[in-house]
Amino acid sequence: MDDQPVISVQDVGMTYRSRDGMENTVLQGCSFDVAPGEFVSIVGQSGSGKTTLLKIISGLVQNTAGEVSVRGLDVSEALRDIAMVFQSPVLLPWRNNLNNVMLPMEFRKKVTKDSRQHALELLEMVGLGDKANKFSYELSGGMQQRVAICRALVSHPEILLMDEPFGALDAMTRDSMNIELQRIWQETKRSVLFVTHSIPEAVWLGDRVVVVGDKPGRIIADIRVRLPRPRTKADRFTEDFAQYVAEVESLIGVSGAIS
Ligand SMILES: Nc1ncnc2c1ncn2[C@@H]1O[C@H](COP(=O)(O)OP(=O)(O)OP(=O)(O)O)[C@@H](O)[C@H]1O
Ligand SMILES: [Mg+2]
Repeated sequence: MDDQPVISVQDVGMTYRSRDGMENTVLQGCSFDVAPGEFVSIVGQSGSGKTTLLKIISGLVQNTAGEVSVRGLDVSEALRDIAMVFQSPVLLPWRNNLNNVMLPMEFRKKVTKDSRQHALELLEMVGLGDKANKFSYELSGGMQQRVAICRALVSHPEILLMDEPFGALDAMTRDSMNIELQRIWQETKRSVLFVTHSIPEAVWLGDRVVVVGDKPGRIIADIRVRLPRPRTKADRFTEDFAQYVAEVESLIGVSGAIS
């Protein structure tokens, strides 16, 4: 495996300026790397700057300090390597599921027999092979989020940025989505940056858990999770798992979900 980081965040800061000239520094001195194929979870209090950090890495927002590079390139040159999944799946209701997955390929003018086949394979992979011609309103929330994940993967991005993708789901669906995501990640070998408010979810999914402190947002810990893969539901009840969760909780100063 190539040791060169896929994402490199060096001393990044972000100060938002309002129209009346007021400054709000939300990130300061943030540094971390993501290795190829690594799954990195990010947790932190609401408002600590996690979404801002993902937006900077995806090129949606320009950082005001520090450097971000993706595969050694400036973010603006690496946009094609990155896909983002948001809390809400944002599917277009007038398109069927296959055509929602194909949207990024249309933007890239790459609608071919092969790319449609790949989109169908992705739907198959997440257990929605028989739903390709259905519409999002015919799917459950968990199924819609799986379509959104397929849409993110269809252009073969090297990096997947996920901002609380399962935040709106009930606990049981969320658990099965975690298992699903681990499987997708192991099959596709993408690098993933995954923001969540759930510390157990962050630990269960992550190779590392990056903890963001607030006011201003900065990285207060970067914990390597040495639990074997693939992880099972039962792993959530082990002593080792509980210790990781307790460690992150004590750093953030709360118990359970953060928000
Ligand atoms: N476009 C913007 N202009 C000005 N301030 C912003 C903007 N976007 C975010 N902020 C401010 O930056 C801070 C961090 O916001 P951000 O959305 O990154 O936090 P977060 O960690 O993702 O929070 P949450 O867990 O609630 O999603 C907040 O104080 C927010 O008000
Ligand atoms: Mg956020």
